[in-house]
Amino acid sequence: MNQTPQHIAVIMDGNGRWAKKRLMPRTVGHVRGAANVRHMVKACNDLDIRYLTLFAFSSENWRRPPDEVSALMGLFLQYLENEVAEMKAAGIRLRVIGDRSAFAPLLQSRIDQAEQDTAHNTRLNLTIAANYGGQWDVLNAMRAWQIAHPHKTLQEMDANALAAHLSTAELPDPELLIRTGGESRISNFLLWQTAYTELYFTDAYWPDFDSAALKAAIDWYAQRVRRFGRTDDQVSAEPQSAVEKADKAMPDLAARFKIS
Ligand code: FPP
Repeated sequence: MNQTPQHIAVIMDGNGRWAKKRLMPRTVGHVRGAANVRHMVKACNDLDIRYLTLFAFSSENWRRPPDEVSALMGLFLQYLENEVAEMKAAGIRLRVIGDRSAFAPLLQSRIDQAEQDTAHNTRLNLTIAANYGGQWDVLNAMRAWQIAHPHKTLQEMDANALAAHLSTAELPDPELLIRTGGESRISNFLLWQTAYTELYFTDAYWPDFDSAALKAAIDWYAQRVRRFGRTDDQVSAEPQSAVEKADKAMPDLAARFKIS
């Protein structure tokens, strides 16, 4: 098996512990984490990865101490202000997913501007999940579907129709999800979209996760056999591309057999 993921999603965990280990405030860990976002985006663009989705702030992160929340908001704003010109030059398209209405007006307008400024770029698709929750995304998609189809009932909604209203509707599902920081959970990230994603957990704290560590995760992924519900024997009888094609048809099958 020698496959490269086209979409990598990352839960960037461990900033706080990275700082604590060095007897520094947690916010220093986030500053180093933000610097690593910059390195990782460049590394993925250089490796011709098509999609990179980063979990920067969950809908639950508002529960953190107010000074930490405002430090994270400040870093996000600073990131947009410092990086968008370079993204434009490097062909990177930026999208932000999540409920941005909770952000300060200045941050909201910088996000809108950054998305517009990079909308025609065709190399790496960088998506930042901010005030994002996977449960929010699914609920929102159901509501949007109902608004788009006021005369239909939920019985008429299938998996493809719901996915078309998720915040990630323009993106393929990630093949590889990396979580740094030693925890093994999804933490309300891309719940729907990671149904068949390969999950890679590493003890490295996010600020330490460098391009060699990224390469190790991609090499690990290359060895995975993706079955999409089939047996080992079926998979070895067919090229992996055929198995992935079967996966793409799966929501149609599920709809046909009314599997929910
Ligand atoms: C989790 O580490 C990390 C976060 C909640 C924030 C991630 C933010 C950044 C990497 C920087 C800002 C982002 C951008 C896009 C500029 P943690 O604080 O929970 O670490 P811990 O588990 O060690 O406490």
